[in-house]
Amino acid sequence: AMRRKLIAGNWKMNGLRAGGIALAGDLAGKCKAEAPNCDFLVCPPAHLLISVAEAIAGSGVALGGQDCHTAASGAHTGDMSAEMLADAGCGFVILGHSERRADHGESSSLVRAKAAAAERAGLTAIVCVGETADEREAGKALEVIESQVRESLPETAPETAPEAAGASLVVAYEPVWAIGTGLTATPSDVAEVHAHIRKLLVELYGNDTGSAIRILYGGSVKPGNAAELMAVGDVDGALVGGASLKLDDFWAIGRSC
Ligand code: G3H
Repeated sequence: AMRRKLIAGNWKMNGLRAGGIALAGDLAGKCKAEAPNCDFLVCPPAHLLISVAEAIAGSGVALGGQDCHTAASGAHTGDMSAEMLADAGCGFVILGHSERRADHGESSSLVRAKAAAAERAGLTAIVCVGETADEREAGKALEVIESQVRESLPETAPETAPEAAGASLVVAYEPVWAIGTGLTATPSDVAEVHAHIRKLLVELYGNDTGSAIRILYGGSVKPGNAAELMAVGDVDGALVGGASLKLDDFWAIGRSC
């Protein structure tokens, strides 16, 4: 399958109004001036969603949330629903990031319920999986990733589009030990994991859908290592943290596709 690469910026809990809106607006301006070879997505903190939606309007840059609740509305203080994200202009939502699994005790079954909520609201879920350093050292990386994939992904197959933008589900492989550390998995480790995830996707959803789902790599992606990582088989883009906060770095990662 021809899958157009997706370069997703996860801003995490970074950005106040002035800087965040300027960053998004500058990226939008570059995309309008010079049609990129990849899809760009920005996932700012919740308070910036509506202003960033305005700043990127008409540029082709997509907008995403960083988490959602399973319910559409109700008595859930501090939470945001997938419907609210969609209402703010989002087309995507990151789910089950390792920081949420660790900081908020999110289980794979909760992530799966959130993925169902995203589908209900018409959002494309980016479901994150990845092993810790201890799990990799113990030789259990593939086993851990496989159970996260089997338990976190939606039970029903996502919708697929005929175009290269693929399916209404994205998987992100992020080795926990590579996030924010400057360490990246080797291209051969990434190739092994992505091929394994692809095999599982085909098993779960069938060949056509399983082949249309984009699999992103995340963990210290920078301009200096992006080209090598993006060239790995079954790597369909990147989930970028730190480097997505710097326009030149984020743009350069997109240019490496
Ligand atoms: O979601 C993004 C990842 O956690 C990667 O973060 O690029 O700062 O290592 P990083």
